[in-house]
Amino acid sequence: MASVFSGRQRHAIRLALRMIAPYRKQAIGALVALIVTAAITLSMGQGIKLMVDQGFMTRSVTLLNETIGLFMVLVVALAVGTFTRFYLVSWIGERVVADLRKQVFDHLVSLHPGFYENNRSSEIQSRLTADTTLLQSVIGSSLSMFLRNALMVIGGVILLFFTNPKLTSIVVVALPLVVAPILIFGRRVRSLSRESQDRVADVGSYVSEALGQIKTVQAYNHQEQDRQRFSQTAEGAFETARKRILQRSWLITLVIVLVLGAVAVMLWVGGMDVIAGRISGGELAAFVFYSLIVGSAFGTLSEVIGELQRAAGAAERITELLQARSEITPPAGDVLKLPERVSGRLALENISFAYPSRPERNAVDGLSLIIEAGETLALVGPSGAGKSTLFDLLLRFYDPQQGQILIEGIPAKRLDPLDLRRCFAWVSQTPALFFGSVEDNIRYGNPHASDQQVQAAAHIAHAHEFIQLLPQGYRTHLGDGGMGLSGGQRQRLAIARALLADAPILLLDEATSALDAQSEHLIQQALPTLMQGRTTLVIAHRLATVQNADRIAVMDQGKLVAVGTHRELIASNPLYARLAALQFNAGQPEKEVNIT
Ligand SMILES: Nc1ncnc2c1ncn2[C@@H]1O[C@H](COP(=O)(O)OP(=O)(O)OP(=O)(O)O)[C@@H](O)[C@H]1O
Ligand SMILES: [Mg+2]
Repeated sequence: MASVFSGRQRHAIRLALRMIAPYRKQAIGALVALIVTAAITLSMGQGIKLMVDQGFMTRSVTLLNETIGLFMVLVVALAVGTFTRFYLVSWIGERVVADLRKQVFDHLVSLHPGFYENNRSSEIQSRLTADTTLLQSVIGSSLSMFLRNALMVIGGVILLFFTNPKLTSIVVVALPLVVAPILIFGRRVRSLSRESQDRVADVGSYVSEALGQIKTVQAYNHQEQDRQRFSQTAEGAFETARKRILQRSWLITLVIVLVLGAVAVMLWVGGMDVIAGRISGGELAAFVFYSLIVGSAFGTLSEVIGELQRAAGAAERITELLQARSEITPPAGDVLKLPERVSGRLALENISFAYPSRPERNAVDGLSLIIEAGETLALVGPSGAGKSTLFDLLLRFYDPQQGQILIEGIPAKRLDPLDLRRCFAWVSQTPALFFGSVEDNIRYGNPHASDQQVQAAAHIAHAHEFIQLLPQGYRTHLGDGGMGLSGGQRQRLAIARALLADAPILLLDEATSALDAQSEHLIQQALPTLMQGRTTLVIAHRLATVQNADRIAVMDQGKLVAVGTHRELIASNPLYARLAALQFNAGQPEKEVNIT
């Protein structure tokens, strides 16, 4: 058997066997059912022989009754066996795929974020769904089909010899003549049908892209181009399908001509023997029956091997995913633990970091900074300065190539990432909401919070008012990614979520950038009470937001350029002075309008 399969296929089979292992009982049950049904099917030939020879030839009613009675018993046994086999085998297939999907997903959510920069998540998603489905079809049917048909071929050939060695020799010689052309055509049909599937997938992905961005499509009047491109894709799919059906039609015709032709030849040779009295009519009938079984089992085997080939690819891709290692893991040695109450003191010691995709450029460059417990520190600097990257490093989405981050005096790398991240409540630059209700989204960081706590957090984030105006208030359902809310509303939900998480360190990455000046001002008013007893790092472009901070850190091109209060920095740091001047100048026309 080893030579039938390539290395990849063996790999796939090994993965399948490993996944099946926990369900040994079901697998053995299925195997028994499989062997029993194969044996019954094969014994049918003997039944036919008996029926023809004794039931019809001797014209004895009792014998006919007995034969048909036995036949009925076999039919019932076959039915029960087939039910058991089909149910158990399909059950194992579905069970294994559910396990595999869970295993892959469990693994994926723990991988470091950098992994998803090199691997498109749509590609990973297709592995999780399409590849596992392919494996399911292999485990849930192909593998059992392979075993069943292999048994049929072996058993069938043995019985053929047993029934009539002379005719069998003819069949064994003629079999390749019949099967080879069918195999060749079958292979062509299969490869075309795979291509056909790919074309259909093209159509699908084109539709989801165009319809997902329908506003942009219509705003640029791009419909006509899209129609044309889609029409090409659809026609391409049709053309491939047409080729496939043509080959398939030929295949069917070929099967009919060759198989029935071969049966005719056999009947002729065998018929001659029957006339000459060398064999009985029943023997001939049994013989034809067995050759049909062997022929069809042989054909199925070749199909199934094609399936196994495809599954091998799928298994390989899934294994690859499972073998990807997270770069952010708990330390190998003894894991340190943070104290029960974390005050929120942070120390950055000479940190340098370049993104793996851009190793030549430091996004954070030799940065040292101490943030005292309970302090509010504002981070300002031009776009691309490395502010958000600094938050990524604090949350340990990446490890700096140089230097270290200490929390409560403990190096972050010596902590379990779960323990470390419990200390942070983070509002990202693009607020991330999930499919689900408003309430679920706020409770995200603290699943046990009471309704009162949820509403209190929403009040502080100035989200309560708009949430009450939603059709079902806090129970209103949001679409994917918080669809159905404005940009500012999303930000306020994200802030409420962070407040509810009640962590000692709050990281706000332009959390109020999409809000109108008044809402932002109100949140600013509320924050100081909240920031009490909490360390807060705020990234903001608007200096109005920044002025309340205890200290301001100015970043430029990954470097920390200056730290101080607003007043100090205006006087000492030209970059900050320039940023401040632009902000206040932008405010001036309004004042003028007010005056006039
Ligand atoms: N995932 C990434 N892979 C490679 N480079 C990145 C990645 N994310 C950010 N960068 C680069 O790192 C630098 C710092 O980016 P960062 O997002 O920290 O800037 P920022 O100060 O937050 O800017 P902004 O104010 O626009 O949000 C930029 O030059 C950016 O292009
Ligand atoms: Mg940023």
